[in-house]
Amino acid sequence: MTEPAPHMTPEQFRQHGHEVVDWIADYWSRIESFPVRSQVSPGEVRAALPPAAPERGEPVSAILADLDRVVLPGLTHWQHPGFFGYFPANTSGPSVLGDLVSAGLGVQGMSWVTSPAATELEQHVMDWFADLLGLPAAFRSTGAGGGVIQDSSSGANLVALLAALHRASRGGTVRHGVEPDRATVYVSAETHSSMEKAVRIAGLGSDAVRIVEVDENLAMRPEALAARLERDVARGYTPVLVCATVGTTSTTAVDPLAQLGPICQRYGVWLHVDAAYAGVSAVVPELRPLQDGVEWADSYTTDAHKWLLTGFDATLFWVADRAALTGALGILPEYLRNAVTDAGTVVDYRDWQIELGRRFRALKLWFVVRWYGAEGLRAHIRGHVALAQELAAWAEADERFDVVMPHPLSLVCLRPRWADGVDADVATMTLLERLDDGGQVFLTHTTVNGSAVLRVAIGSPATTRAHVERLWALLRENHDWLATDFAAAAAEREAARAAAAAVLQGPAPS
Ligand SMILES: Cc1ncc(COP(=O)(O)O)c(C=O)c1O
Repeated sequence: MTEPAPHMTPEQFRQHGHEVVDWIADYWSRIESFPVRSQVSPGEVRAALPPAAPERGEPVSAILADLDRVVLPGLTHWQHPGFFGYFPANTSGPSVLGDLVSAGLGVQGMSWVTSPAATELEQHVMDWFADLLGLPAAFRSTGAGGGVIQDSSSGANLVALLAALHRASRGGTVRHGVEPDRATVYVSAETHSSMEKAVRIAGLGSDAVRIVEVDENLAMRPEALAARLERDVARGYTPVLVCATVGTTSTTAVDPLAQLGPICQRYGVWLHVDAAYAGVSAVVPELRPLQDGVEWADSYTTDAHKWLLTGFDATLFWVADRAALTGALGILPEYLRNAVTDAGTVVDYRDWQIELGRRFRALKLWFVVRWYGAEGLRAHIRGHVALAQELAAWAEADERFDVVMPHPLSLVCLRPRWADGVDADVATMTLLERLDDGGQVFLTHTTVNGSAVLRVAIGSPATTRAHVERLWALLRENHDWLATDFAAAAAEREAARAAAAAVLQGPAPS
């Protein structure tokens, strides 16, 4: 006889659920006791795990013990207040709780009919966020467009491209695919790599990508875009999409939407705005001028899972004309047919994304926005921007560092100064490694105009002024220590070089 499956009963779930929530709360309380960057070597985590899956079920207490023993040492702690790397990946209590509810409900929101609340709450929350971010009326569900939660901005970039291809081909891609030798896509060298990946996935191939020149602030040059479009059209290409970035990954450069928009319109090209990190800053009215011209956008993506207190995945994606999106992605197999879909009176979000199935992600955003309120979200963003401006001011006043590139938000790029003769890139990367090895802070780097710089992305919800002060102290202390070391090595090299040159020249004439 087959044994019944040993499901966790609701009462057991209640008990263990409390234990797990306690474990998470304890983790957050003691997060500063961990080194920010994981210190394990490759293979160490797997070596601590049994080779085969357990034959017999185990108690939750054993799983929790292994979280401490195996998992925590193998984590880089993105919620640590000393985490200044990449861009942040915020989470928060309300976000986790909303996600827990979503997991507990376990509904699929692929069609309106499969759980009407999953669709309508998402539509509603997306309209709220369009309002909160000051986005154009066309993006609201009440107009021709609308918003949808995607898994990532990389995914949103792909979805935008598919919609643009659909529009440019007047629906032709759905029947006979793309025309890889004709379609062109415009980015800058600073555009996120996911856009080129989208071009490849869409079947255009990287040759379709045109890299538009940038100005001294690394922003796309409108006249260069216009010239490239002009040339491509004259040669018989079909420009499909321009990807403008608000807040580039490397330095938070901002492409000038107000100037790029009219050019896109003139050539009938889809303007996609990738504001993955920076877009959510528009909850703060005084930061909205960065996105002036956003009303020209055909589509727009920003990640609540980076800087807006919502756990991955929560990409907010809007289109001005939903027909292009659903035209590209809509498909209706018989088994999904139902009366309301047939009547066309509802939104079926499966037609707005790559996958069919979808989680009830709106819940975590709803929890976040209701818990914090708009004023709480504004305070969160304003706090980090103010800290970044302070850090930049300290660095500008210090002879050991240069602040490179504008820093309108919460990313500051610092180029350490080194003595003549020192290989600046090697010294900068050594400084970075020393800081990250130290465990109190974690930074990453980029290159600007070919030389290495340190990126300080302030965005962890737990980061306070004291943490930024500590980072600043560590930057200076470690710079001092290394500068002496590197300068001595450079002086030794120079002395050795001079001695070798003297030997080559032979003895001085007597
Ligand atoms: C400008 C930009 N676009 C897209 C992405 C990719 O974001 P996601 O991780 O949501 O795919 C990033 C990530 O940092 C980004 O900075």
